[in-house]
Amino acid sequence: MNIIAVKDQVEGGKKAFELIRQGIEGNNARVLGLATGSTPVTLYEEMVKSDLDCSHLIAINLDEYVGLKETDSQSYRTFMNEHLFNAKPFKESYVPDGMAADADAECARYDQIIANNPIDIQVLGIGTNGHIGFNEPGAPFDSTTRKVDLVESTIESNKRFFEKKEDVPTQAYSMGIGSILKAKEIILIAYGEAKADALKGMIEGPKTEDCPASALQDHANIYVIADEAALSKLS
Ligand code: F6R
Repeated sequence: MNIIAVKDQVEGGKKAFELIRQGIEGNNARVLGLATGSTPVTLYEEMVKSDLDCSHLIAINLDEYVGLKETDSQSYRTFMNEHLFNAKPFKESYVPDGMAADADAECARYDQIIANNPIDIQVLGIGTNGHIGFNEPGAPFDSTTRKVDLVESTIESNKRFFEKKEDVPTQAYSMGIGSILKAKEIILIAYGEAKADALKGMIEGPKTEDCPASALQDHANIYVIADEAALSKLS
């Protein structure tokens, strides 16, 4: 793993953007796997204010809440539109359909999208419990897209985006760990002390389903961009 220490989220966003720009302009990357949440916001700010042309790129997002319409203010589709796609239109952008009537069909459709558009660069945040995407502890390392139950700590930490905790959906569609591992390059970003244990488990811990991000130890081309607080528990 290539660990890049940054002083704060602004510098982290710039570093992540540099890697993405290099991938697109130097390595012909065309398909970006993208994440939501607080972590990638400064990366998307860098993308938006840059002259990077995204009109030939394909975006495939990691996850979406079950039960939220794409127009819902809290949907991950809305998040992506507001933080990136409205300002930088992509050729195509995919987010799972949280309102799909048939969950199995939706998962198969999403896996087909990933198979048709192999991910060149996957951007990841990490949960305080080591989740990547919404692959919570216990998720198999060879998993593909599926409907998952969110664990209590995830609901607790995501309630900050909602009016009240009861409004946080309890399920999501998530790309699987197996699909994430197939990305040619991974950029995992983590900020703050709350992520320190998860980062230690991912980098130094045993490879175990108890820490989903530890699956990334097998990946040959991964960059970890993190601030001092997130790196503070590494030995
Ligand atoms: C979001 C996602 C999650 C987040 C993680 C960290 O699409 O897949 O794994 O990356 O929960 O969230 P933040 O960045 O809000 O701390």
